[in-house]
Amino acid sequence: MTTTLTTSPDEAATHLRRGELVAFPTETVYGLGADALQPEAVQRIFEAKGRPADNPLIVHVVRRGQIGEVAADVPPPAERLLEHFAPGPLTLILPRHEALSSVVTAGLDTVGVRMPRLPLTRSFLEACNTPVPAPSANRSGRPSPTSWEAVHEDLGGRIECILKGGRTEEGVESTVVDCTTTPVTVLRPGAVPVEDLRVVLGHVDVGDTEGERRARSPGTRHRHYAPSAQVRLVDDPGRLSDIDSNLDAAYIGLDPPPQPGAFQTVHVEDNLEAYAHDLFHVFRACDEAGCEAIYAQTVPAEGLGRALNDRLRRAAAR
Ligand code: TXA
Ligand code: MG
Repeated sequence: MTTTLTTSPDEAATHLRRGELVAFPTETVYGLGADALQPEAVQRIFEAKGRPADNPLIVHVVRRGQIGEVAADVPPPAERLLEHFAPGPLTLILPRHEALSSVVTAGLDTVGVRMPRLPLTRSFLEACNTPVPAPSANRSGRPSPTSWEAVHEDLGGRIECILKGGRTEEGVESTVVDCTTTPVTVLRPGAVPVEDLRVVLGHVDVGDTEGERRARSPGTRHRHYAPSAQVRLVDDPGRLSDIDSNLDAAYIGLDPPPQPGAFQTVHVEDNLEAYAHDLFHVFRACDEAGCEAIYAQTVPAEGLGRALNDRLRRAAAR
């Protein structure tokens, strides 16, 4: 199959409406979309990604009115989150609309809904004129794509179209909030910090207890976000002494490593935002360079730090 590359949101939408698969940029990571009203097309998303069928998809909408097409109800806390964070990198789990295909929700009675803020995404969704279910546009298990080149690397020849945008701004995925519980529960930390949600809602659970962890998003049970290189977590770079000199290694973190010469490449990030923006990009660059180990510094668990640590831990889990 030839994968058409285009910078035109209208051309990309024409492919989608024909029942084809289209990867598109958002402010978080690139997504792989199909028409919500064509279940056979949605089914092909799972095949193209190699995604387990029990992992539900997030539905992307461009305006508030479309939420009623996929969700049966918008509870008051969800309404308040929409007021403050939509459009933006937040996904709300809501009771599903009975007309929505169960292929999208993987058989659950809830649906994830997100309204992206990137202007190119919004033009694309306007032109599609239908809700667009879309997971991240990577092969299952790989780091999420933050550039169209990364999408092409994973899915070129397997999907009909890639809408080309720039590198994505956030670099980590949306925060997923279950709005069917009281209080609401964060199922996946992401680009909107929990602290910001608490400013609006007061109490927000973060799924830290064992029971809450089991109840998390189906997707968070699978190994994720991993490069081929082994990821080794570094809590304190100042005490990093056991760098394996037999391995081609890379380093990424907020603080410089004590022996920069021991690494093939060193990425010292200015702040949490820059770290998040670069993480998946660096993972893929390391794989391309044939790196065997990536030493990655963990960060304080506040603000964007929760999402970063979550992605680092999952990437390091074998
Ligand atoms: O930023 C993002 O969220 C990106 C862009 C493309 O929007 N999308 C994304 O999708 O990261 P995906 O499929 O890679 O991750 C979605 C997560 C998965 O962990 C999935 O299990 C969870 O959201 N999810 C989706 N629907 C759900 C539902 N009804 N209940 C619980 N978790 C759900
Ligand atoms: Mg994903």
